[in-house]
Amino acid sequence: MEEERKLQIDAHPQIWAVGGGKGGVGKSVISVLLAFWLTRMGKRTILIDLDLGGANIHTLMGIKSPPKTLNDFVTRRLDSLEEVCIETDVENLRLICGASDILTLSNPHVAHKIKIINHVSKLDADYVVLDLGAGTSFNVLDFFLAAEKKIVVMTPQPTAIQNAYSFVRNVVYRRISRLASQQPPLQAMIKSAMDENNELRVRTIRDLLQAVEDIRGNEVMETLRGEIEAIRPTVITNMVTNNNDKNAGRVIQLVSEKYLMVHPRNLDSVAYDKQINQMVSSMVPITTLGQSSDAFANLYDITMKLL
Ligand SMILES: Nc1ncnc2c1ncn2[C@@H]1O[C@H](COP(=O)(O)OP(=O)(O)O)[C@@H](O)[C@H]1O
Ligand SMILES: [Mg+2]
Repeated sequence: MEEERKLQIDAHPQIWAVGGGKGGVGKSVISVLLAFWLTRMGKRTILIDLDLGGANIHTLMGIKSPPKTLNDFVTRRLDSLEEVCIETDVENLRLICGASDILTLSNPHVAHKIKIINHVSKLDADYVVLDLGAGTSFNVLDFFLAAEKKIVVMTPQPTAIQNAYSFVRNVVYRRISRLASQQPPLQAMIKSAMDENNELRVRTIRDLLQAVEDIRGNEVMETLRGEIEAIRPTVITNMVTNNNDKNAGRVIQLVSEKYLMVHPRNLDSVAYDKQINQMVSSMVPITTLGQSSDAFANLYDITMKLL
């Protein structure tokens, strides 16, 4: 019994983060439906709206004005993240609403970010799904890197593909620059490599690793390479209307492997479904999408694969 209790206390939720540079590609819709399917597989799930600039998960869930939000936690009106959770109409799904009213939160202090990450890892749930905001601020990248499953959402549009690539690139640079934070010379190299016109003539992560090997030695390079390979993002192409669209994931995979040394996996796609648009416009919870929806079925498959 004692052992069993210890096991329970030590247990912490598995975190899935949903990011991708561009706004409007469906990060929030996908976060909600992944969380929904997790609950249908018997997992106690908490969905957190971390889009601190444009929180809208509650709207997608048909909740007009959230009784409490992440802001109550950041401003210490409520002491624990657990207290900020609200129940939803979906069994086993709780929600932490974002703080869209406080724009300054889109760039919270480092201390707030660390506090949020710490509390997330202690939440009483099997799974936590983080819906991240657009852009590649350090906050977004750090929440993304903190997750076990790192999901990048894009659409088949060329601009969205470019944004997704640049998102992954920023994730990689953020990861290695954090690793190098205790080593100023390495840190300086990485910083300079981020500038396209750097003197080292480093254009890609591959070039950077070569430069690191030349200047800092093989061991340092191998460590960085291992850390980069461990990132393994999952790419989802959303709003797909034809078979050709599905190749978008392949493009990201090829360029990420070639230039970033990152190996994205699960190149899945989610169909465009006009019902989703209609539901969002009329504030009908998208968790009530019917079995007839291809997008709904696609997300069931993706959830199964991620599990
Ligand atoms: N698979 C889809 N099919 C049809 N419309 C979609 C789909 N996914 C998202 N949308 C539409 O795109 C809009 C933006 O999605 P959202 O999840 O809010 O994007 P993001 O969080 O990336 O900014 C939604 O309001 C919805 O109407
Ligand atoms: Mg969103």
